[in-house]
Amino acid sequence: MSLSGVLQDMVKTTFQREFGADATQLFSAPGRVNLIGEHTDYNDGFVLPCAIQFETVLASRLVPGSDQIEIFAADYQQLHVIDLTAPLTPASTPVNTPRWAHYVRGVVAGLQQRGLVLPGCQLVVGGNVPQGAGLSSSASLEMVLGLGLSTLAGAPLSPRGNALNGQQAEHQFAGCQCGIMDQLVSAAGQAGQALLLDCRSLDYQTVPMPASLQVLIIHSNVKRGLVDSAYNERREQCEAAAKFFGVKALRDVTLEQLEAAQTHLDPLIYARARHVISENNRTEAAAVALKNADIKTLSALMAQSHQSMRDDFAITVPAIDFLVAEVAAICGERGGVRMTGGGFGGCVVALLPADLVEPVCQHLSQVYPAAHQLEPTFYLCQASAGARAL
Ligand code: GLA
Repeated sequence: MSLSGVLQDMVKTTFQREFGADATQLFSAPGRVNLIGEHTDYNDGFVLPCAIQFETVLASRLVPGSDQIEIFAADYQQLHVIDLTAPLTPASTPVNTPRWAHYVRGVVAGLQQRGLVLPGCQLVVGGNVPQGAGLSSSASLEMVLGLGLSTLAGAPLSPRGNALNGQQAEHQFAGCQCGIMDQLVSAAGQAGQALLLDCRSLDYQTVPMPASLQVLIIHSNVKRGLVDSAYNERREQCEAAAKFFGVKALRDVTLEQLEAAQTHLDPLIYARARHVISENNRTEAAAVALKNADIKTLSALMAQSHQSMRDDFAITVPAIDFLVAEVAAICGERGGVRMTGGGFGGCVVALLPADLVEPVCQHLSQVYPAAHQLEPTFYLCQASAGARAL
C-alpha cells in the first residue's frame, strides 16, 4: 500500500475508534520543499518550492446540533475541544494547550474572522510530514484544516485565501512571523511542477520538473533550537534595511542601490539585505534554468544560494554545510544542492540525476555520522498536488 494509503487508513481507523462512527469526508494537504528563494517571501520576493508527497490528512464528520469542534491528533493521541460559541483569541487559549492545537485554534479563529459560520464537527488529523525538519508540517496542518473546515461550512476557501488564513494563524497563534511560501505551495501545489511564487502579488507560474532530475531531501537531524526567535530577528533586520531605503520591502531595492549605500549601512543589515536581494535574482534565474533543464546553471545558482545563506544571512549550521559540500563534491555540475527552509538545522535539498541518488546516500551514510555523530535521513520526493478533498 502507498504511504498515502497507509496514512488515510490510520486516520480513518482512529476516527472510528475515537468517535464510534465513520468519517464522512477526508482531506489532504502536503508539506513542501523549497528549491531556491530562502527568506525572500516576507520581503515580497520570489520563491521556487514544490509540494511533496508527505502530507497531513484530515477525517471529518458533521455533528448536527453540536457547537463544538472536537479534534483528535492521531500522532499525539490527544483530543482538543473548541467551543464555537466563545470568542477565540490567542489570550483565550487554555494553559497547557499542546502546540499542534495552537495552529488549529488559529485556523478556526481566522475562518470565523472571515465570516464563516463553522458547524459542530468531529475531526481526526494525522500526518507523515517529518516534523521539525523544515518541510512545513505546520503549514500542511493549517492548509488541510482551512480547506476541510471551510468545506464543512459550505464555503471552501480558494488556495490563496486558505494560505493567507494559515499565515495569519502562524502570526497570531504560533508566534512565528512567517512569510506566505509554505502555505501557498501547500494549498496550490501541482503534481510534477515547481511553483514560481511572487510573494507580493501572490501570483504563481508552474515550472515543470525536468524528468532527468530527482528531488532528494537529506535531513541533518540537527535539533533546531530557538528557530522562531532567530527567524523573527532576520525578518526585523530585513525590515530595517527596507526602511533605510524608504521602500515597502527589499524586493524594491537593487543590488546596485545596495552597493552604493554600503558605507551608510550597518554591516550586519547590509549582509542580510545582500542575501535577500541576490537570492531574489537567483530565484528568477533558477526558474528559467529549471524550465530549460539547464542543470549546470541550476547547480551554480543553488551553490551561490547556499553560500549566501551561510555567509550573509547566517542561518546554516556546520552539519548542514558539511552535507552540502559532500553532495556537491559528488554531483559537480550534474546536480544542485543547498540548505532548504528556514534554517538552523533541518534539511538539505539536492536536485540530481537518478544514477547519483544511491552513491550520494551511501556516501553520506558513511561520512556524516563520523563527522557529526548524527545519522542522515533520506527522502526521495516527487513534486505533488496541493490541498484537496480526497
Ligand atoms: C519558513 C517560513 C517561510 C519562509 C522560509 C524561509 O519556512 O515559514 O515563510 O520564510 O522559512 O525561506
